[in-house]
Amino acid sequence: MCGIVGYVGEQDGLEVVLGGLRRLEYRGYDSAGVAILGPDGSLTVERKAGKLANLEKELAERAFPGTLAIGHTRWATHGAPTDRNAHPQVDCSGAVAVVHNGTIENFGALVRGLEERGHERSSDTDTEVVAHLVEERYTGDLAAAVRSVCKDLDGSFVLVIAHRDQPDLVVAARRNLPLVVGLGDGENFLGSDVTAFIAHTREARAVDQDQVVELRRTGVVVTDLDGNVVEGESYHVDWDTSAAEKGGHEFFMLKEIEEQPAAVRETLGGRLTEQGVLHLDELSMSDEDIRDIEQVVIIACGSSYHSGLVGKYAIERWCRLPVQVEMASEFRYRDPVVGRRTLVIAISQSGETADTLEALRHARAQKAWVLAVTNTLGSTVSRESDAAFYTRSGPEVAVASTKAVIAQLAAMYVVGLYLAQVRGTRDADEVRAHMHDLEEIPSLVEDVLSRMEPVRALARELASEERVLFLGRHVGYPMALEGALKLKELAYISAEGFPAGEIKHGPIALVEEGTPVVVIAPRHALQAKLVNNVQEVRARGARTIVIATDGDESVTPYADTVIRIPDTKSLLAPLLTIVPLQVLAAEVARARGLDVDQPRNLAKSVTVE
Ligand code: M6R
Repeated sequence: MCGIVGYVGEQDGLEVVLGGLRRLEYRGYDSAGVAILGPDGSLTVERKAGKLANLEKELAERAFPGTLAIGHTRWATHGAPTDRNAHPQVDCSGAVAVVHNGTIENFGALVRGLEERGHERSSDTDTEVVAHLVEERYTGDLAAAVRSVCKDLDGSFVLVIAHRDQPDLVVAARRNLPLVVGLGDGENFLGSDVTAFIAHTREARAVDQDQVVELRRTGVVVTDLDGNVVEGESYHVDWDTSAAEKGGHEFFMLKEIEEQPAAVRETLGGRLTEQGVLHLDELSMSDEDIRDIEQVVIIACGSSYHSGLVGKYAIERWCRLPVQVEMASEFRYRDPVVGRRTLVIAISQSGETADTLEALRHARAQKAWVLAVTNTLGSTVSRESDAAFYTRSGPEVAVASTKAVIAQLAAMYVVGLYLAQVRGTRDADEVRAHMHDLEEIPSLVEDVLSRMEPVRALARELASEERVLFLGRHVGYPMALEGALKLKELAYISAEGFPAGEIKHGPIALVEEGTPVVVIAPRHALQAKLVNNVQEVRARGARTIVIATDGDESVTPYADTVIRIPDTKSLLAPLLTIVPLQVLAAEVARARGLDVDQPRNLAKSVTVE
């Protein structure tokens, strides 16, 4: 959580930093702030509670010249989201300005020491201790002071620091959380991710654990905490800037929903050879090791967890391997049984989710082979895994994940088919046939997207509801969970997803006259049982909204509203049923007048446990 930006160059520093913050606002949006080093040597700090727009409004009233600046957009951990707790935080003299993503776990002890030594605090944040500690240890070498301070910090942090006496230097440090350097010509950048600077440069360098960056106009030096220079490689970012713009849509989420055919197409692209052999070189496991796998464990959070659940159905069906799917936040605390012959798949759009990161570290410590399925090149999850399969959905800005999730689903099918091919549980013809079915999906998603007007109308009708239930069977069950999560997070409506067969064991008590129940019911072998479940809730007064395959009339007599999707293989249906669920949630939120891209209390990258 929290977005950080740093800049030193020849451009207007404030403009560059605000541009970066606009792109990082998905990481946190309860307050924002900037520090600008002026040509007169002044270090001006401006910060404001609320969304970035509040700060921008205030900044618009004055000029802030300067070509070195740092900025922050916050998701509060220590201290309420107020002006005084917004970043940058400063030392006693106002010479040091610090922006911070993360939490400093030993800040209580550090505060006591600082107070004993006469420092006065001006906020409730953990971040402020860093400003005071740098103040104490600075003797002209800012990087040395930061290195020394970092050695005394426990927890996770990305720090970006400017000093009034250093007109050509921004210093940053990283532990556990993301920090990327943007390499320009006569200017350099820092950001929580590359979207912070891709409007200016596509050359990036990742920063590793416990490294300190010295960012100057003419160059970047990275050291470890002892000051030893560390060489690193730069990489080219091929996301284009328009991918991180709204492109005429009212919200990023609506644009990202529309981008889903491309996300699936790109993720699947080029995996079948002319001879029809499926390639997944990213797994980097020998065929022998793949044949030795005894179990697969999938770890993820939120919507990525739902992709993992779908992956379980595919891998078990095609590979005859036992698959467990676990919420990453629970995984390591129950002492899970994993080992050398376990393939662990860590799914994370951002590649920065703390729960997933800790879970995969635990799995690797048990000698499991960890494959990251992530959307973010160079992310911590990908770098700390044994192998990485990148979903190619481009930058996702809306907090609610859409195109990244559909790409994860596509990736999980590919992983399942590849394991089946190598282990010989599916023959080449069958693998090829399933891949061809998958390759049909992007145009089927386009078809679904062209039919969304009735879903928008339905959303307006549901906008005043207080509770919505979602039911599904087999791979429809994870989609029921996903539909409910989307509606909760976007529209703040109490929504729950259930396996349809389970409702009679308790949840059906929630159904009363008019309760909307969304049933994910594409054509499937379990159709007859699902039809029964629809009848059961309807008999108790539910308003039934059914997602059904074109031409399937088995469920329509019991549906108050039918949402049609084209036909596909039933195992692949989540790639289609997910779309109306996303549109429904976004449009209900819009009808309720809510901010679709930035729902309350949330942040896109959840970098705290
Ligand atoms: O970046 P990750 O995929 O690891 O994020 C996991 C969840 O935080 C994320 O999917 C979250 O549930 C979204 N808000 C769902 O729309």
